[in-house]
Amino acid sequence: MKNIRVLDSEDLPTNTSSNEHFQAVVERARSRRGFLKSGLGLSAAVFLAGPLAACGGSSGGSGEGETETPPESSLLGFKAIPISTEDTIMVAEGYTAEHFVPWGTPLFAGDPDWKSDGSDDSAAQARQVGDNHDGIHFFPINGSSDEGLLVMNHEYTTTSGGEYPWLFGVGGTEPWTADKAQKAINAHGVSVIHIVRNAEGKWEIKLDSQYNRRITAATEMQLTGPAAGHDLLKTSEDATGTKVLGTFNNCGNGWTPWNTYLACEENFNNYFGTTSGNDQRDEAQKRYGLSAQETGYRWEEHFDRFDYVKEPNESNRFGWIVEIDPFDPNSVPRKRTALGRIKHENAAYRLAADQRIVVYMGDDQAGDYIYKFVSDGTFKEGGDNSALLDSGKLYVAQFEDGEASGDFMGTGKWILLDKNDNAALLADNTNFPTQADILIKTRMAADLVGATKMDRPEWVSVHPTSGEVYVTLTNNSGRAEDETDDANPRAANRYGQIIRWREAGEDATATTFEWDLFVLAGNPVKYTDRADLKSGSENITADNTFNSPDGLAFDQEGRLWIQTDGNYSNAGEYEGQGNNQMLCADPASKEIRRFFVGPKECEVTGIAFTPDSKTLFINIQHPGEDGDSHWPDGGTSLPRSSTVIITKNDGGVIGS
Ligand code: FEO
Ligand code: CA
Ligand code: CA
Repeated sequence: MKNIRVLDSEDLPTNTSSNEHFQAVVERARSRRGFLKSGLGLSAAVFLAGPLAACGGSSGGSGEGETETPPESSLLGFKAIPISTEDTIMVAEGYTAEHFVPWGTPLFAGDPDWKSDGSDDSAAQARQVGDNHDGIHFFPINGSSDEGLLVMNHEYTTTSGGEYPWLFGVGGTEPWTADKAQKAINAHGVSVIHIVRNAEGKWEIKLDSQYNRRITAATEMQLTGPAAGHDLLKTSEDATGTKVLGTFNNCGNGWTPWNTYLACEENFNNYFGTTSGNDQRDEAQKRYGLSAQETGYRWEEHFDRFDYVKEPNESNRFGWIVEIDPFDPNSVPRKRTALGRIKHENAAYRLAADQRIVVYMGDDQAGDYIYKFVSDGTFKEGGDNSALLDSGKLYVAQFEDGEASGDFMGTGKWILLDKNDNAALLADNTNFPTQADILIKTRMAADLVGATKMDRPEWVSVHPTSGEVYVTLTNNSGRAEDETDDANPRAANRYGQIIRWREAGEDATATTFEWDLFVLAGNPVKYTDRADLKSGSENITADNTFNSPDGLAFDQEGRLWIQTDGNYSNAGEYEGQGNNQMLCADPASKEIRRFFVGPKECEVTGIAFTPDSKTLFINIQHPGEDGDSHWPDGGTSLPRSSTVIITKNDGGVIGS
């Protein structure tokens, strides 16, 4: 989600704990290892030999001249492209990118076309593709790379000053009726879309498929796992504490090896406010950032469950990971409480050697944490895995400056969030009388055990063979420039970074790890002095500069795809960075090349491949959110979030 327009957003920390910030750990690791204070402090010769030669195109210098010739990446087979500020999509030479299933596309045979004037009602929206596409996954049918279920999140629908300028057209919000609120509710959630490649090689929707489905912010779901049925999950509509309506603000995603989709509930807090006129939030509601008064979405004006004064526990039923079986259109989505309640960005799994499933997760807010879940049970190929995410151990990450091996910068621990095994949690019977309370108030439990505050954790991805885990820390620009100091070299972290870690003994269930900075994003166009940390690490050049890494995924061959959701002004601190974009990195050489650029004022997000790696699906979210785009339809049309399908013209593997 774009972060500068939303009240109480993820840029504003709600974490008032005294826990240490990651930047302080980084600084100590740098000092201890004796790195030059003026440099980034990444020791490796690879880093100092920044890859400057491979990129094509954009204006600006290429960093300092003393840089050695970099190794040519054998993984990256495409020529980098320059930035763009155009209202169109750009992709590397030799590739084709086309938009697909924009917001409003009917999903069922016989339905009328989407109405471009915002006059479709809630019933129509419930049968159309939702808005603001985000996380996405392709589930092949019988292993096919030509037919499958494309499943995607619709994170939110854009509001501005009490209006929904796209959903209803400018001025169309008034009068604010229950059906309009319901339409907004139906624009959220998840789409399951049966797609097939036709005789001409074009992907199209199979409109008569039994699989096509819309899941919205009103679809019946079930809370499962250790917290299900807890008093804090009961409402006046649901005395069982297990039946909940809908999912929303589904940002990044995940999937499981048993072919289910994970929709992650992120900024759920923005949907809960009150019309009472008073700020009556309790400590937990503040820690999770609920709106003090009215919300921008205005659902609470028509539906009491979104008014936290009238229904104080409803918000506790959001902030979970939701498991969906796309192959059973009648399945009830399940909110898996064992994985904790945070502002979930995405969920990336790895199978341990003994086949327990490990799920890595980030909590996207300035100063919040990184988590991992380790299941109690083990994955059984072809067996019943439906309860695997209902029981296990939840850990939070603590980064330390201990001596790591090789080029890695420090060490870390996974701290168990368990009522019985952790003295701090055991002692606090006010906030955490039971383990279920820890799962419902996960952030507060993590505060108590000394987790490390991070710069807005976004997507996590696991390398397909090494098992190393990478995470984007998108930015933390909230702190002012004059608040920087030696211990916090990038307090005003406008550009973000990607860090990685490897578990002890290469064991996904380990409780210790070693960590490293993979890239410190920066702007060598604006900051040409390499001594300035704002120019980024040495694998950032004037040719690949970007800010705010967010979407992140490895492909099967180990290329790391990086998507941005950052400032697209192309001015000031962001001069020379253009529209939001997708880049590709070689984890070994650390080289990064720009592959794709989105239209104006969008975010590039979501990464899914067909099994043969020859079709790539990504999403363009909120093009023109500041009013200056007509993508994809052009002319004077409303901008629409859309999927983009990328193929290589020679039919080859994407990125090769
Ligand atoms: Fe929805 Fe953290 O991005
Ligand atoms: Ca995101
Ligand atoms: Ca983001």
